[in-house]
Amino acid sequence: MKILMVCLGNICRSPLAEGVMRHLAAEHHLDWTIDSAGTGNWHIGDKPDHRSIRIAKSHNIDISSHRGQQFTVADFDQFDRIYVMDRSNFNNVIHLARHEADRQKVHFLLENEKEVPDPWYDDALFAPVYNLIYEACEKIVNNEQ
Ligand code: 4NP
Repeated sequence: MKILMVCLGNICRSPLAEGVMRHLAAEHHLDWTIDSAGTGNWHIGDKPDHRSIRIAKSHNIDISSHRGQQFTVADFDQFDRIYVMDRSNFNNVIHLARHEADRQKVHFLLENEKEVPDPWYDDALFAPVYNLIYEACEKIVNNEQ
């Protein structure tokens, strides 16, 4: 399975989701490819936000080697599933879809199209965001067992 996690900047939420998913896939001996990207271009080449690095590290997950990249239409060919954090990410990714097969790959990370809040302006959101992402990734892994 090839999974791409997508948010806006690719420095806060999606690198965390990538790190958590990698961690859980390894724990479950799943040979998955996992990456992340942002719909925006402001943080191409940047390290994840220090607050995401810190919360991941507190759970023994190292995301510091990721570098920001922007979602492109070619990602529809590279990945089986594209998980978005919020509705705006969903709309931006769907806008790039070429056909129904592309659209079918796009899912909200959280069930029932709930959104992972953008923690960029609020330090206090990083811990709850981590928990939301962890629980969602656990469900994805468990559904594959
Ligand atoms: P992310 O958070 O989408 O979770 O990576 C953001 C990071 C940067 C910006 C917005 C959201 N920004 O406006 O630069």
